[in-house]
Amino acid sequence: MKKEKILVTGGTGYIGSHTVVELQNNGYEVIIVDNLSNSSLEVLDGIASITGKKPDFEQIDCCDMSAMERIFNQYSDIKAIIHFAASKAVGESVEKPLMYYRNNLVSLLNILELMSKYNCPNLVFSSSCTVYGQPDKLPVTEDAPVKAATSPYGNTKQIAEEIIRDAIHADKNLKSIALRYFNPVGAHPSAAIGELPNGIPNNLIPFVTQTAIGIRSRLRVFGSDYNTPDGSAIRDYIYVSDLAKAHVIAVERLLENRNRKGLEFFNLGTGRGLSVLEVLNEFEKATGVKVEREIVGRREGDIEKVWADPSWANSELGWKAETSVSAMLQTAWTWEKALKNKK
Ligand code: UD1
Repeated sequence: MKKEKILVTGGTGYIGSHTVVELQNNGYEVIIVDNLSNSSLEVLDGIASITGKKPDFEQIDCCDMSAMERIFNQYSDIKAIIHFAASKAVGESVEKPLMYYRNNLVSLLNILELMSKYNCPNLVFSSSCTVYGQPDKLPVTEDAPVKAATSPYGNTKQIAEEIIRDAIHADKNLKSIALRYFNPVGAHPSAAIGELPNGIPNNLIPFVTQTAIGIRSRLRVFGSDYNTPDGSAIRDYIYVSDLAKAHVIAVERLLENRNRKGLEFFNLGTGRGLSVLEVLNEFEKATGVKVEREIVGRREGDIEKVWADPSWANSELGWKAETSVSAMLQTAWTWEKALKNKK
């Protein structure tokens, strides 16, 4: 059984916690570093209830260099880092750009410096399909041009990829896999962990489930005049645990020295685009619950349509998104109901 230690920053967050579960289920030892700015300690209990083991946890902000250095000293045998810790609200990033640049970039700079200093060369980085902007060709492949970002949040992901590229160029010992996520949704089937939006959700699925359960009166569908079959915007929704599994594969690839270049990029999507209205239909079909909606104008900064060509991840990583839309939406609904019961 493998026992390598993996440092997971942002490991109590939404994608982070699902990835910790998959790492532990594959025999890895996990150390979570998280400042709990957008998550809570209870997530650790949720993880333990699934895997039978509470991961090591340190409440630290990755921007705090001396605290991070203490972790590298304390756990001298960290074999890889998965760096999730970042702020991710597009609208907030427009209002507080400097906070976003500081938080998302200083944390990465600290980690890269410590990786070189402590000879810990393997990094899996949380990137996003936002780097493609509105692609010229769909489905979008990894070699599509990176387009000018439409928000400071998106810009932090683009700049982060460039910082990693330059760091690897200067220190040939370093290796990284940047995973470009499409739209992660759903929760672990146990409903022990899931997405916990702070306040009013920005993202579609938590808004849908909160409307279905009666926390919100109706969902606003942003835009009805896009150049799509039903006029609403199209995204590639991917089940969070499928996404999490790709991180385990990426870690293995780095540990076994199988990545071909210093820095590799992979699209993590299903390859299928769904419009907002199709998502609502699928949700109602899967759960039997009606979602009140109102069609309103476009949301500023939204793109019209994007979905992945995941064939590079399929062939090269041997990874494939497996969960149906109906099943992923059901897990989101089960999670929302579990949250209600906890209150
Ligand atoms: C955005 C970012 C993505 C980021 C993610 C994290 C861009 C282009 N995308 O994804 O990089 O990782 O946030 O938070 O920067 N919608 C409604 N009503 C709602 C909410 C959403 O109609 O109440 C629609 C949106 O207009 C969009 C779709 O649902 O068409 C998905 O929206 P959302 O879940 O917010 O994700 P993105 O904007 O695609």
